[in-house]
Amino acid sequence: MDKIVINGGKHLNGEVFISGAKNAVLPIMTACIIEPGKYTLNNVPDLRDTRTMGRLIEMIGGSAQFHKNSMQINTVNCDKPVAPYELVKTMRASFYVLGPFMSRYNYAEVSLPGGCAWGPRPVDFHLKALESMGATISLERGNLISKGKLHGAEIDFEKVSVGATGNTLMAAVKADGITVINNAACEPDITDLVDFLVKLGGNIEGRDTTQLTIYGNSQLKGGFEYDIIPDRIEAGTFLIGVALTGGEVTLRNVNPKHLEIVISKLKDVGVNIQYDSDSITISSSGNINPVDMTTGAYPGFPTDLQAQWMALMCLASGNSTVIDEIYHDRFTHMAELSRFGAKLHLVDNIASINGIKNFYGAPVMSTDIRASASLILAAMAAEGSSEISRIYHIDRGYENIEMKLQGLGADIKRTQA
Ligand code: EPZ
Repeated sequence: MDKIVINGGKHLNGEVFISGAKNAVLPIMTACIIEPGKYTLNNVPDLRDTRTMGRLIEMIGGSAQFHKNSMQINTVNCDKPVAPYELVKTMRASFYVLGPFMSRYNYAEVSLPGGCAWGPRPVDFHLKALESMGATISLERGNLISKGKLHGAEIDFEKVSVGATGNTLMAAVKADGITVINNAACEPDITDLVDFLVKLGGNIEGRDTTQLTIYGNSQLKGGFEYDIIPDRIEAGTFLIGVALTGGEVTLRNVNPKHLEIVISKLKDVGVNIQYDSDSITISSSGNINPVDMTTGAYPGFPTDLQAQWMALMCLASGNSTVIDEIYHDRFTHMAELSRFGAKLHLVDNIASINGIKNFYGAPVMSTDIRASASLILAAMAAEGSSEISRIYHIDRGYENIEMKLQGLGADIKRTQA
């Protein structure tokens, strides 16, 4: 199994090209199932997760071919609405087939996703939404069996959910009648999915808002080309990395609008940030002001940047708090950051951070995608050498991360463990 070895203390300088958004392309790949056709998706990141989703499309009778950063997806012959446990257990996002299967086949057999690295992640909102649209859902040996021709409904999510909003959207585009989703997620990934569904012929109002109205339409037309948005979480990871190590970096192929709160928080930290429509330049002296942060649904601070932010606050010139309001138990990275010397304390979902002068290199272990990103950032700022194991997590969410960081002057390499 591979590991990543980093010799810290190097500033980051230069340019980096940001890949397409993992959390937008995964639901959009499943949306290609709704209507048979030959689709071309561009700006697709080459990740373990996009390859896993490609395998799922093949398992149900379709094909998914990667060519550079485009994916040719053919769903004409998809005829098996089944997502097995072997696959769903490796990637929760496989659960995004539920809506498309119900739209196309009025039937779905999807393994119930288990928990994840940091705790339970229920899907009750997804199921309640489909049941209110007329689906009959049962559980057999860990698999959800969902049946029925769907009709429109009014759906109120008790909490904002990206996944439940996505699945409900994909179930509603072909349902009989009108579906209204209240307290919908409006993450850029969801807006990208809405744009794809509109290109498919869907009739959707409320783009970019927390109320979506979907006029079910049976006359959809599949088979077209579509460009995926840039990955704001990858971009945010690089921005926080530069704030931590010092240096000057320009990010290309990025949408600054998707990062407004992250940019504003980083300015409070004391870095300089300039941007235009598709690039961001950050320069940092390495001085880090302590800045409290609480995660929230978009346009709030993304929970997928919480671990990276915590790594930054560890080297701040004072104390701060990090609160995760989305996942109250997403703190597995704290124990590993402590191995670098971080001074951290957790009570419920509130982490208190006492800023220290230096991190010291150490062997550490990844536990999930974003936790591993925070360890890479910390190791780059640390004195001495660090080894990060279980890096298959990082490959799930970051395309060629060590090559991109090498391009910015980091002393990082991947080795056999
Ligand atoms: C998406 O997960 C992302 N994954 C996550 O990114 C991200 O952390 C999360 O949204 C929040 O932004 C993908 O897009 C593939 P949710 P999702 O449904 O859809 C609760 C990464 O690192 N909830 O918005 O699974 C849930 O427990 C990943 O790229 C229910 O209680 O998240 C959580 O507390 C990690 N019941 C909150 O809502 C439900 O049925 C938000 O979850 C659904 C959710």
